[in-house]
Amino acid sequence: MTVKFFDTTLRDGEQSPGVNLNIKDKLRIAEQLAALNVDVIEAGFPISSEGDFRAVNKIAEEVSGPIIAGLARTKKEDIDRAWEAIKPASRPRIHTFIATSQIHMEHKLRKSPEEVLEESVRAVERAKSYTDDVEFSAEDAVRSDRDFLCELFEAVIEAGATTVNIPDTVGYSVPHEFGGLVAYIRENVSNISEADMSIHCHDDLGLGVANSLAAVEEGAVQIECAVNGIGERAGNAALEEIALALHTRRDYYDKDHSLNLQEVHRTSRLVSNLTGMEVQPNKAVVGENAFAHEAGIHQDGVLKERTTYEIMDAETIGLEENKIVMGKHSGRSAFRQKLSELGYDLDDEKLNDAFLRFKELTDRKKEITNLDLEAIVEGQLVQR
Ligand code: KIV
Ligand code: ZN
Repeated sequence: MTVKFFDTTLRDGEQSPGVNLNIKDKLRIAEQLAALNVDVIEAGFPISSEGDFRAVNKIAEEVSGPIIAGLARTKKEDIDRAWEAIKPASRPRIHTFIATSQIHMEHKLRKSPEEVLEESVRAVERAKSYTDDVEFSAEDAVRSDRDFLCELFEAVIEAGATTVNIPDTVGYSVPHEFGGLVAYIRENVSNISEADMSIHCHDDLGLGVANSLAAVEEGAVQIECAVNGIGERAGNAALEEIALALHTRRDYYDKDHSLNLQEVHRTSRLVSNLTGMEVQPNKAVVGENAFAHEAGIHQDGVLKERTTYEIMDAETIGLEENKIVMGKHSGRSAFRQKLSELGYDLDDEKLNDAFLRFKELTDRKKEITNLDLEAIVEGQLVQR
């Protein structure tokens, strides 16, 4: 079975506090997402501002390959505006949503469940009059009444929705529970086979990726996520982490996808540079240290056999190689290897001497660069 990647970096991701991309940046990111070969690019929320409308429209005109989606509330004017923006795309999608939890319906929408259901059906019908590809999201699905959710999904599929999305809008769920919700919907929505079941997890408890993977195990076929996990509050589930979990543990998940993993690192760097949101060094998959080894025992193991301490190959995500970081925990065998890469083949005595100098330097300096190593060896060679 194949899972689809729905990327919302340009919509939910751009809702990160402090992020404000201009049209040129959005277009550049959309082009890179197309190179990464995501299935769907959610390009923005066209009614939210004139700038967002123009960015979505430009992406729809210029980016080919993925489906281009525009977000819309269930309001008539939102759907019309979303359609205006995405209609130049060769594969346009309208993504309409409304909240379905009691807490949201009562306090935010001030609508009854019956009104929400009726409005959802009308919205899907209107979207369907523009395009065959219509996604419906039940905002705050996780805190919604399960049977109401099933009734609503059944009604919107009947009205023409081709994807139904189950968001954990506030990142409240835990993996087993979220997987259970997906299974419940799969078993209790009679026409679910006529639509793709999608999930959309936020990361408030740091569980966005784990919840997404639990949902995939229960039959979710579309995963909504953002590059580097950016998004509202603690962000969305991180695309690269889900992708590499599915790839590295394909023995367990057994799911295909269409992503070009070689573009993962480039995409992460681009999004970080253009949004100004730095990636933490220890972030899984794309952090600066994700493929670096400093401890001597680890370095020694990796040099003998890469898989001793590496479950992923840096080259898979488009990096040149795994990184051996020379620092105070590095051992003699990594030191010897590094010197040999720099062109120095020292006898045992010289190597021991150089290693002592290197260790002295690590007390004063955290990371030892190639220039430092050259200085150590050259200085020693001159002295001798
Ligand atoms: O988190 C959420 O519920 C959303 C929806 C609009 C899908 O972003
Ligand atoms: Zn969201």
